Amino acid sequence: ELGTSETIERILINENQLQAKVAELANQISIDYEGKNPLFVGILKGAFVFLSDLIRHVKIPAHVDFMQVSSYGSGTESSGIVKILKDLDISVEDRHVIIVEDIVDTGVTMQHLLELLSARKPASLAVCTLLDKKERRIVDVHLNYVGFEIPNAFVVGYGLDYAEFYRNLPFIGIPYKEVYE
Ligand code: PRP
Ligand code: MN
Ligand code: MG
Repeated sequence: ELGTSETIERILINENQLQAKVAELANQISIDYEGKNPLFVGILKGAFVFLSDLIRHVKIPAHVDFMQVSSYGSGTESSGIVKILKDLDISVEDRHVIIVEDIVDTGVTMQHLLELLSARKPASLAVCTLLDKKERRIVDVHLNYVGFEIPNAFVVGYGLDYAEFYRNLPFIGIPYKEVYE
């Protein structure tokens, strides 16, 4: 059945590996942003699981807000068009902003986000992504914090979806080809 763990062919990153890495990233961010009250900007929907785990390991005062953009539609390939579906509530002006993503794939989404947010004059702007699918990059974007570099395979779970399914899996896995072909 679509969306269940039985349709996952291989677990790429298990729950323990994810949790250890998330804690490590949060610890580093807590050191780097001491005294800066960073604003974490989660990119919906994919980043909601990662951000919710990450933020609970952050040891310093911080704010959280969300933006929603979409480039994929329901398929597995980027359309190259980035739509803003929900903007921030909190102003980023003079704030130390950390964009939080589940995955940077082609980089198109992140490039648009960086352009958009840097135009709003933040004090600083950084990117924290759980996954980096480097092989697929078509635009060069600087990533400040990266959880895992992954190969060019279609991955789901821990916030990442296929046709909105699988976001609830506690691990990152590769579904059987029959699922998405
Ligand atoms: C996915 C992912 C990133 C983006 C990365 O989001 O969560 O936001 O695509 O792709 P790119 O580097 O090629 O631009 P998606 O558009 O699927 O929306 P979702 O987070 O709501 O699933
Ligand atoms: Mn996304
Ligand atoms: Mg998606």
